Amino acid sequence: MKRLVIVSNRVPAAGTPQAGGLVVALADLLRRHKGLWFGWSDALTEKPAAEPRLVDRQGVSCAMIDLTPEEHRKYYLGFSNSVLWPLMHILPGVVRFHPHELETYRAVNVRFAQALKGLLKRGDLIWVQDYQLLAVPAALRELRVSNPIGFFLHIPFPPPVVAAISEGLLALVRDVLSADLIGFQTATDAEHFAQTAAQYAGARRVGRMGLKLGERTVRLGVFPVEIDAREFARVTEAAMQRAPAQDLAHNLRDRALVLGVDRLDPSKGLAERLTAYQQFLAAEPDWRRRVSFLQIAAKSREGVQAYRSLLRELEKVAGATNGANADPDWTPLKLVTQSSTRTTVASYMRHARVGLVTPLRDGMNLVAKEFVAAQDPSDPGVLILSRFAGAATQLQAALQVNPYDPDQIQAALRRALTMPLEERRERWQSLWDVIKDKTALAWGEAFAEALAGRGTVGQRGTVR
Ligand code: G6P
Repeated sequence: MKRLVIVSNRVPAAGTPQAGGLVVALADLLRRHKGLWFGWSDALTEKPAAEPRLVDRQGVSCAMIDLTPEEHRKYYLGFSNSVLWPLMHILPGVVRFHPHELETYRAVNVRFAQALKGLLKRGDLIWVQDYQLLAVPAALRELRVSNPIGFFLHIPFPPPVVAAISEGLLALVRDVLSADLIGFQTATDAEHFAQTAAQYAGARRVGRMGLKLGERTVRLGVFPVEIDAREFARVTEAAMQRAPAQDLAHNLRDRALVLGVDRLDPSKGLAERLTAYQQFLAAEPDWRRRVSFLQIAAKSREGVQAYRSLLRELEKVAGATNGANADPDWTPLKLVTQSSTRTTVASYMRHARVGLVTPLRDGMNLVAKEFVAAQDPSDPGVLILSRFAGAATQLQAALQVNPYDPDQIQAALRRALTMPLEERRERWQSLWDVIKDKTALAWGEAFAEALAGRGTVGQRGTVR
């Protein structure tokens, strides 16, 4: 078995109980492949050492480098999260350009490649993760690394006219084409990427899922990220006995719980969602006191202005909603910006009558899959899902909405709250059937096998 080397901006933090299913799965994959995880240490220093630090994190060998405060500002807060992230989620109004950020982004990617090179062995499979590291494949080739290189984009890829808003992104598309296999969450993302590469990066299309650059062929594949659904259901059962679940039940007092769980991020459609709830309470006075909305919006990327102003905006809507409706013993909307552990979130999901997952655009959205896995089959809650989340192509039996339109969210909320038990069960069963046999580990194995040349990239681009 070949050694697998994962490269990502972050490496799994030491002992984090909130680690998502994906991080856990990649760590499992590395334990199996006796692999290595390479990335940023999460530390900032003025003079970082060139050599990576080697540590063992829960049985996974990790190698990490520090960033300088300036690199962090220009590469991470700047080009990655103020240009690439909003553009990939088709939010050009949120994009902020600042001088020299692309150069720093590239320089950090080159530093990753240089520090990694000394650790590589012949035959290693290199798997680079996500939009922060689009230039790493080209930087490795520049250093004469000839190992197979895979790249997976966890977030969406926009149509060419949107990608063209940043010439920097177009240049990075060319850089990532140094990989042998590029994976996406959905066929739409792969198609947008192929069109952009053909239009702006000098690539020729070979069939639907191949690109040629000179004599070299680059394979594209669709690998929707999965969760370990049965394991999440078990985690939920255990979590129901714990204090946070019981406190929530006590505070709810039989009110219907509407639940949102997100990072506080402009792509998550939080303002539209909170506004929809506000309108719902105004339009449906009968539901007052019978429903409570808990929105967990865990603070994230606070160094980026758009994230800070979003928090202020949400606090305003939450304040207005509670101001207009609250009673001494009823808080209509709770906005919580602390992150919760995975187990606590699982138990909240189980209590929820409605899960509101309405990102304006999302690569996949694993919360939607977790919400399904957490339900009680005999009395399941209803999933309201954005049509523009990657998960929407799989989770067809959810109530799908246009996340930009509060009226649609409001109508879906009414429908979900009044849905007969039989319909709730039927819809849940269809959703469960889609996810029940999937695991995040199998997702990772499928990519690694396709990279090693053993997996086949199917006709529709899905690796089997
Ligand atoms: C998304 C991205 C990841 C990123 C995560 C958390 O899921 O696809 O690459 O790690 O958000 O964001 P952060 O900026 O805190 O790493």
